[in-house]
Order: sequence, then structure tokens, then C-alpha cells
Amino acid sequence: MRKIIAPSILSADFTKLADEVAAIKNAGADWIHVDVMDGHFVHNLTLGIPIVEALQRTNPPPLDIHLQIDKPESFSEKFIDAAGDSIHGITLQYETCALLHGSISAIQSRGVKAGVAISPMTPIYVLEEVLDNVDMVLIMTVEPGFPGQKFIASMEEKVSRLREVIDNSEHKPLIQVDGGIKLDNIKIISDAGADSIVSGSGIFGTSDYAETIAKMRSEMES
Ligand code: DX5
Ligand code: ZN
Repeated sequence: MRKIIAPSILSADFTKLADEVAAIKNAGADWIHVDVMDGHFVHNLTLGIPIVEALQRTNPPPLDIHLQIDKPESFSEKFIDAAGDSIHGITLQYETCALLHGSISAIQSRGVKAGVAISPMTPIYVLEEVLDNVDMVLIMTVEPGFPGQKFIASMEEKVSRLREVIDNSEHKPLIQVDGGIKLDNIKIISDAGADSIVSGSGIFGTSDYAETIAKMRSEMES
């Protein structure tokens, strides 16, 4: 399967957001990863509905919205409305969503993909009941909260274990990884079994997005 590259717009230059979206689209991004943080679940406050509405007006690649907020179930529908036709999916953090079953169904009932993310120290066995219901599982490879952090090496083995679980199960949600992924470590996590790779500073921190994405793809295919 062709791996899905999702640059995280949080690392883009917000003074020229529309240009950055156009540049990353032309550079071959499959999705745009949108990091929503509320200053409660994580020690950072990033972007909300108005920015997603603005992104939608730039005719972006499909929007992959990562909700790192308390009570995400209260906001997922609002983000679906804000993203309009540009929506791909909404990913909820397992650690903050008490009403997971209902929240996943509510997202999917809108024809939108639903994902569940787990933080580095959250074991994969908590996903046992979730796996058959979701379209994607996001393994955080850094502690949620900030771009530019160092990839946690032990997450490679965690992804391999989840890969095995999913390969042996009937329903096959995608595995996404997020945090600290750059050109020099993307092959490791891709070989471990990731289907979709988020990269923020690893792409927007480079001078030529198209070259970086092309190199990332050839790394993964090597
Ligand atoms: C962290 C976010 C990540 C982050 C990725 O909480 O979920 O998406 O912005 O940025 P890099 O790739 O720079 O770690
Ligand atoms: Zn993210």
C-alpha cells in the first residue's frame, strides 16, 4: 500500500497559511494533519474552528483533524462542519474521551473517518474493544503537546506489535504515527508497519517541501 504522508500544518508559517497549503499540496502531501490543542489535555493552545474554516477555503488536501482536547465529543461535529467537503477524518485521544463508542459512531454517521490516538505510555491493549469500530489508530511517537520533539525510539516496537494485532484481525484500521518523524527516521517507523505518517517540523522545517516528501517516499520504498 502507498504510504500516506500527512504534513502537520502546526509547523507551517501561519502568516501565509494559504500559500503554505498550496505549497504542501503541490509538494505531494496526501492529507493535511491539523493539530487542535486546548491548553488542558496538553500544555499548549494551538488552533480552533475559525482556522479550520479558513483552511477549508484554501481547497486543501483532505484534512486529518487530531483533537488533543478535553471532552472531544463536544467538538467533533463542529470541526466536521468547519472542514466541510475538505474533511477526511477526526481523531480523538483515548485518554480524554469517556464516551468513545458514541463519539466514534457520531463521526462515522457523518460519513467521516474516525480515529483513536494513544499517547506513548498508553498500552495498545486498551484498543481491544476499539479496533473493530475505528478507521484509524494513531500511535503518538512523542508526548502530545508540541511539534519539534524527539521521536521516542521504543514506539517502533509498539507499532510492530499493533501491526501484528491488526494483520491478524478481520477489521483493518490504518495505523498512523505522529511525532518527531523526519527523513532520517521515517523508514524505521514505516517498516514497523505504519500506513500513514505525520510530520510537522520534519517537512515545514525544510526549504524544499517537494524534495523532502519525495525523499521520504523513496526512503520508505527502499
Ligand atoms: C504533537 C502533535 C504532532 C506534532 C508533529 O502533539 O500531535 O502532530 O505537531 O510535529 P513534529 O513532526 O515536528 O513532531
Ligand atoms: Zn498530531
